[in-house]
Amino acid sequence: MPAGTGFLTDIKTIRARARQHLERGAVTEGYRADRETVLRLLNEALATEIVCVLRYKRHHYMASGINAKSVAAEFLEHANEEQAHADEIALRIVQLGGAPNLSPQGLSQRSHSEYIEGADLNEMIREDLVAERIAIDTYREIVQYLGNDDPSTRRMLEGILAKEEEHAEDLVALLAELDTGSESSRGSRQSRGH
Ligand SMILES: [Fe+2]
Ligand SMILES: [Fe+2]
Repeated sequence: MPAGTGFLTDIKTIRARARQHLERGAVTEGYRADRETVLRLLNEALATEIVCVLRYKRHHYMASGINAKSVAAEFLEHANEEQAHADEIALRIVQLGGAPNLSPQGLSQRSHSEYIEGADLNEMIREDLVAERIAIDTYREIVQYLGNDDPSTRRMLEGILAKEEEHAEDLVALLAELDTGSESSRGSRQSRGH
């Protein structure tokens, strides 16, 4: 921003402010968001991601049946990506001067999504899809809440949101494959009977 536009805080003030409260690191005087609220929202997002890791891992190990191999591989891929999200969020919490809440106590209460085991492949995929849709809505809301008050956190969450949208799309495709798969296996059983 060129000097003299009247838009930017004058550089003398910025320089002087930067020397105060050095221990706050990335959180400067100009940080406009409500830090406590942002930290709470990020810790809830962290719990959500961890519950998603655990659910996808459970589904990965429990997946069995005709279409299980590719579905199990997809579950594992999602589990790893949710773990990467959890790590990104935990790092940002520390950068904002907070502490990531990784306590197993109250984890599922802090999480937006649920841990549902599912009895078969179909149920597992459906539960994962529900969880992704919950994550999509909550991330979108947090992004809107942050607006321009904390662009780095917002950008990080926008990246995660885009990934959750991909996950939801993957799961819808898996459900469709599973449906056609079970139809063709029913068909082949019938044709073998003749
Ligand atoms: Fe995620
Ligand atoms: Fe996801």
